[in-house]
Amino acid sequence: MDLYEYQARDLFEKYEVPVLAGIVADTPDEVRAAAEKIGGVVVVKAQVKAGGRGKAGGVKVAKTPDEAYEAAKAIFGLDIKGHIVQRVMVAAGARIEKEYYFSVLLDRANRAYLSLCSVEGGMEIEELAVERPEALARIAVDPLTGIDKQKAVEIAEAAGFAPELVDKVSDVFVKLYAVYTGEDATLVEVNPLVLTAEGDIVALDGKVSLDENADFRHPEHEALEDKAAADPLEAKAKANNLNYVKLDGEVGVIGNGAGLVMSTLDVVAYAGEKHGGVKPANFLDIGGGASAAVMAAGLDVILGDPQVKSVFVNVFGGITACDAVANGIVGALETLGDAASKPLVVRLDGNKVEEGRAILSAANHPLVTLASTMDEGADKAAELANA
Ligand SMILES: Nc1ncnc2c1ncn2[C@@H]1O[C@H](COP(=O)(O)OP(=O)(O)OP(=O)(O)O)[C@@H](O)[C@H]1O
Ligand SMILES: [Mg+2]
Repeated sequence: MDLYEYQARDLFEKYEVPVLAGIVADTPDEVRAAAEKIGGVVVVKAQVKAGGRGKAGGVKVAKTPDEAYEAAKAIFGLDIKGHIVQRVMVAAGARIEKEYYFSVLLDRANRAYLSLCSVEGGMEIEELAVERPEALARIAVDPLTGIDKQKAVEIAEAAGFAPELVDKVSDVFVKLYAVYTGEDATLVEVNPLVLTAEGDIVALDGKVSLDENADFRHPEHEALEDKAAADPLEAKAKANNLNYVKLDGEVGVIGNGAGLVMSTLDVVAYAGEKHGGVKPANFLDIGGGASAAVMAAGLDVILGDPQVKSVFVNVFGGITACDAVANGIVGALETLGDAASKPLVVRLDGNKVEEGRAILSAANHPLVTLASTMDEGADKAAELANA
């Protein structure tokens, strides 16, 4: 889960990373009040989960509360890479001497963490990495030892910080690493980290991504979730602990196991080429225990997608045998009643396949078609979606 800048700022503050005052505001009047409260020069900053806010006109300096009000009027409603600005943060203005870049992130390929750091911050780091790779230090971080003071000094020196700044800036790196591990983040990025005219090192902008696999350790992270912005179907799936990703096709897909579901998406897309170009409508893995309740929850999510015209249930019985899955499907259709209004193609295979098919045949539900292979099922579901 990616956080907004103001949420990152609040986390930084909790770990004593130096930040400036910041107040969120949802209207120009609130912005004026926030600017009065902070006093002096402020910066009005669009809160959207997209980069390049400054370039898009989403970051404006204001010398007075009235100027902040005017800046807010220009920023609210702005479209930044498809995100409409509905909230801003009013931040105290910094007198910037120099802008730096620092991040620590999960390096999956190397099974380690990676810290990136540069004394040429401010600009887009992707550009810097391409145009002047030598200006960007890349330091591997062993997760077992992390970024302690010694490692932080190594990073600062590799990035080319002036010797008199190394001590101060490395203290901030240690604190940012505490945010990274303390919050179970996969990314903590500060761009820019600045040196102020007063000689302080301050984090002026923050990006934090949290690892949702660690949510169980952080009940407080739920409050950071932007429920209004989430896709309502994905939110519903999440509430039911389903692994669901909305796609933009017409054939709903349910399977057990991520690998099977992914290959089902391919097979459906391929079959769709013969049937008016229909495509998979979603990824949905109901996992190992395909009980009636889980099946009903999955079908409910998929049928709630108005784009869906047919559903392909592709299940390979393993520990959860096909008879249990078939009972799950029958039970789910009963639970859903009239809400189940779209044709369902079911392919079962594996453990207790005969029993499973017999249960579905006996139920003889008007919406259900049995398929004996994955290709046949995909073809039938695509045909029905195109009908
Ligand atoms: N509180 C502040 N005081 C003074 N200047 C600021 C402040 N916040 C940001 N700036 C200036 O505005 C620039 C852009 O701000 P920021 O990094 O927050 O947004 P961005 O880089 O455009 O957005 P993103 O990081 O999402 O791409 C900074 O590099 C800095 O020069
Ligand atoms: Mg930035």
